[in-house]
Amino acid sequence: MPILPTHRPRRNRKSQVIRDMVQETRLTTHDFIYPLFITEGQNQQVEIKSMPGIHRFSADRVIDEIGRCVELGIKSFAPFPQVNEVLKDRLARESANMEGLYLKTVADIKRQFPEVVLMTDVAMDPYSSDGHDGIVDPDSGEILNDASLEVLGQMALAQARAGADIIGPSDMMDGRVAWIREVLDSNAFSHVSIMSYTAKYASAFYGPFRDALDSAPKRGDKKTYQMNPANRREALLELALDEQEGADMVMIKPALSYLDVIREVRDNTQLPVTAYNVSGEYAMVKAAAQQGWLDGERTMMEVLTSIKRAGADAILTYFAKEAAEVLRRG
Ligand code: PBG
Repeated sequence: MPILPTHRPRRNRKSQVIRDMVQETRLTTHDFIYPLFITEGQNQQVEIKSMPGIHRFSADRVIDEIGRCVELGIKSFAPFPQVNEVLKDRLARESANMEGLYLKTVADIKRQFPEVVLMTDVAMDPYSSDGHDGIVDPDSGEILNDASLEVLGQMALAQARAGADIIGPSDMMDGRVAWIREVLDSNAFSHVSIMSYTAKYASAFYGPFRDALDSAPKRGDKKTYQMNPANRREALLELALDEQEGADMVMIKPALSYLDVIREVRDNTQLPVTAYNVSGEYAMVKAAAQQGWLDGERTMMEVLTSIKRAGADAILTYFAKEAAEVLRRG
């Protein structure tokens, strides 16, 4: 006679109340950081083709959008600028212009919503005529690490002056966390945090974001500074350096194809770990849902839960607003 099971894990799944009682991972709106795309002009709200439901907002409209999000319980935002092509140059000079679109909008948001947390992006690509995160040597095409640090430091300082709460270096130059920390501290911005893009991979999943900002590299790719998707141990090397250099929080990007890296980093640091659920990951779910091939809402919640389960304390995600609505419904 076959032996019937003594251990029956299904007992812990037998009703919704019991499933809720033993649930290990719970999403809340506090987990979300909402990326926002900012563009020139007034009264502009243009949907990004490859990111249904996500728009570029002019400064006036982004204030309304943040108001709606705050109402839903989302309090952290990561704005990115779409810079006019004529303002771009080799050295990304526009990035430190206090009167430019980005820094003025950041200051404006902080004036209107002092309680929200703004994480600003440090990288040259939105302002660079080359579309790279660092300075391109005009002869060799090489990305110049140490010369770029100077530009990134000035950009971070300008963002701190505009009122940024957290500086988010997404550029992947070596040594930029220490450099930015030093520039901030020596200018009386020791209270401004750094969330480092610690393990940022050279990923195909950034395509829709580059559409949103017109920021794709004009030549070449980003493989000499962003990480090889095949590498896991290298993320731990980047983590060790970011810790030494003074990062307050570390990030893994993208999220979904890198859940193992999120877990690995979680298990090897006491710092808060965040993950960036990037544009392409958003686009995939939206596209399949529009085709009727996936239940978009359930897939979204499963994706976000899996990122948190893997070890992320907070998630940068274009789903933030929609997920907050689902959480509010309960
Ligand atoms: C650029 C930057 C990128 C993203 C955030 N900052 C793109 C890139 O490195 O080319 C991508 C985010 C996304 O895809 O949602 N420094």
